[in-house]
Amino acid sequence: MKVLVVGNGGREHALAWKLGQSTKVDKVFVAPGNAGTAKDAENVDIASTDIPGLIQFAKDQAIDLTVIGPEAPLVLGLADAMEAAGLKVFGPSRAAAELEGSKVFCKNLLRTANIPTANYQTFRSGDDASRYIKDRFSEPNEPVNVVVKADGLAAGKGVIVCDTRSDALEAIDRIASRREFGEAGNELIIEEKLVGQEVSVLAITDGETIVTLPAAQDHKPAHDGDTGPNTGGMGAHCPTPIVDDELMTKIESDVLVPIVHALKRARRPFKGVLYAGLMLTPAGPKVLEFNVRFGDPECQPLLMRLKTDLFDVLEAAADSRLAEMDPLEWDERPSICVVMASEGYPGDYEKGREITGLENADALEDVKVFHAGTVLANNQVVTNGGRVLGITAMGNTISQAKLQAYTAVKEIRWRGAWCRKDISDKALAEN
Ligand SMILES: Nc1ncnc2c1ncn2[C@@H]1O[C@H](COP(=O)(O)OP(=O)(O)O)[C@@H](O)[C@H]1O
Ligand SMILES: [Mg+2]
Repeated sequence: MKVLVVGNGGREHALAWKLGQSTKVDKVFVAPGNAGTAKDAENVDIASTDIPGLIQFAKDQAIDLTVIGPEAPLVLGLADAMEAAGLKVFGPSRAAAELEGSKVFCKNLLRTANIPTANYQTFRSGDDASRYIKDRFSEPNEPVNVVVKADGLAAGKGVIVCDTRSDALEAIDRIASRREFGEAGNELIIEEKLVGQEVSVLAITDGETIVTLPAAQDHKPAHDGDTGPNTGGMGAHCPTPIVDDELMTKIESDVLVPIVHALKRARRPFKGVLYAGLMLTPAGPKVLEFNVRFGDPECQPLLMRLKTDLFDVLEAAADSRLAEMDPLEWDERPSICVVMASEGYPGDYEKGREITGLENADALEDVKVFHAGTVLANNQVVTNGGRVLGITAMGNTISQAKLQAYTAVKEIRWRGAWCRKDISDKALAEN
């Protein structure tokens, strides 16, 4: 079988690496890929949102399955276009991907399906949203505890957690007047701020059967102790001890089953990865958002632990025969992924810095270095993005996995490289 993975991040490197281990897969292409996928698969120079280009390539190469990594091509309708062209694809339709593409659509569906989520109001104008805040709070420094969200895709930047009335008005201004997130700010949401630990529960579904994956935790803030500006994710661990079997059963019955049914009833049947971002509040788990693809970096530690042939699972989902699959098999050992980033990230950063030590890190036992923002320049791996590498390791305990990952991190160098030092500590704090 020939597989095409669409995207160029750490998630796509992990997908390509795992698919390449399948006994059924002869060839994995990645479009456009990075320096890591160039080594473990074959890169093709087509952008992940170039729908005609991807379809042409898949036809020319007689690709058996296309796996779409990022949200942007899904929201643009790549899965629909590929299916219409007679190609098999893993990933939701454009209509189903609106679950991530529009936070207003998502919140309204959650409300209809009676799925626990923060209380919220939606607004079509900044003036209405500002009035809502001004009507309720009078002092500039008055605590408001709300979160202001742009409706559309904003590369993880369109959500602003606000402490005071002036924070909230400033957030509304940025989204609705200054248009910092462009069209994504056509509508906005003001919702109740929730408190608790965040977890990611992902499931693979064909719209009927739901296969839940072990819970993981991302680390969004740039600095240790979950401080500093938000990033695309600085690390992840899987599983997390804060989600036990009982809680997982509750998340399945209160969140995953009803959302899959609600999408089906809305005639937007969901096929692909459904990612529930949850806050574990004292009143139980509540949905922060849904994503319609694997999380990056959660995908890396998840796939490192998967023993079942990934191609079989993704193909079964694409063919609507997940019900026939045996339960997934997992390595019992926990895994963690530490993201190494460019100097300056999540702000401005330089590209093109030479990376050394990759082979030594990869040679360590139970370690895999997944590439994200890297590119080959004159046969040398150089930085090409903010999040550069995801150093992923397994161990008998979370602490051992952490030690192994950071041992590998120490092997790798480039000018300005940095990472968080506390990935997975929040899992241990709960024990
Ligand atoms: N209601 C909320 N209460 C507290 N924190 C929130 C809330 N909504 C979002 N957040 C925080 O903001 C982050 C990003 O929000 P999210 O809805 O996941 O949007 P996106 O991932 O598209 O930026 C979350 O991971 C969480 O830390
Ligand atoms: Mg999120």
